[in-house]
Amino acid sequence: MNFDLTKLLRPHIAELQPYTSARDEYTGKIGVFLDANENPYGSITDQDYNRYPDPYQQELKEKISEIKKVDPSQIFLGNGSDEAIDLLFRAFCNPGKDNVILLPPTYGMYEVSASINDIETRKVALTSDFQLQPEKIIGATDERSKIIFVCSPNNPSGNKVKREEIRFLLKNFTGIVVVDEAYIDFNDEPSFTTELEEFPNLLVIQTFSKAWGLASLRLGMAFGSKEIIRILNRIKPPYNISGLTQETVLKAMSNYGKVKKMIQEILIEREFLKERLEQLPFIQHIFPSHANFLLIKMPNATEVYNELIEQKVIVRNRSKVLLCEDCLRISVGTRNENEAFLKALKKVVSKTV
Ligand SMILES: Cc1ncc(COP(=O)(O)O)c(C=O)c1O
Repeated sequence: MNFDLTKLLRPHIAELQPYTSARDEYTGKIGVFLDANENPYGSITDQDYNRYPDPYQQELKEKISEIKKVDPSQIFLGNGSDEAIDLLFRAFCNPGKDNVILLPPTYGMYEVSASINDIETRKVALTSDFQLQPEKIIGATDERSKIIFVCSPNNPSGNKVKREEIRFLLKNFTGIVVVDEAYIDFNDEPSFTTELEEFPNLLVIQTFSKAWGLASLRLGMAFGSKEIIRILNRIKPPYNISGLTQETVLKAMSNYGKVKKMIQEILIEREFLKERLEQLPFIQHIFPSHANFLLIKMPNATEVYNELIEQKVIVRNRSKVLLCEDCLRISVGTRNENEAFLKALKKVVSKTV
């Protein structure tokens, strides 16, 4: 495999003179700050937010580095992991010329981001048990293929993708392989961050939106080679992570024990939901899950979905998605929420099936 990052990069990005913010030019914390046109009197809120935050989130990255065992220089933080996905297109994909490979059914934002950036998507479907077709994927690439997006555990199917097959892509593709691990904390396998040293073309994406319970704060992570991370940092908006988010997450990280506890509870509830669903004769299939949701197949799924909404139980209808005909995706809730869902489901199905 011949990986040449400079060849992959869009030429105008290589030559870009990035914006330098006030907080780039002077990084000290003490002084009379008259450099960023801020309000010197404070904020209208109880807590002050009048100063711009650290553009590179150094303190937060140090802390993330301890937990994730990845050097801070190999960590990019985005306004949700969706920001990292979008920046990859902007850095590497020339509109109207380059292409990326998507493996449906998978997370919808890869395609939306590609469309926004006017990038061709080449699709190689997963198998019926939602695994890769590695040879076919490599066969679909050409010299204009820049990125392959792999999601593991995969959304919306919930399964983990075979590790050896992801490694095959990493070894045989000359572009970047993104491994989106939004649901890694619910998996029983280690993250691909352990393989960063071996593969310069690997970019692992994770998020604080799932296991950490911080979806509203919008904080996503990308882990990759120093060189790839440097490129993402050069093109990101200067203050892409708010001071409030940086502070809150920094504090939350010393409470990692609570995250582990919540993960354990979600895993117990996933099993509870699965067992209860297995007892329902109208459920045709429950797909194996290594995430915090279950994909289930049943007759008339769209009707069931609509009736569930009438009962004020909201799940995700995936019936129109490739290989997910008649499937609903159920996020694992608390015991009360799961019981409410099961009760509503039984009631609804007695009417629709
Ligand atoms: C696979 C996958 N990647 C990324 C995301 C986006 O996460 P974030 O909230 O960090 O933007 C999601 C959200 O559902 C997801 O399912």
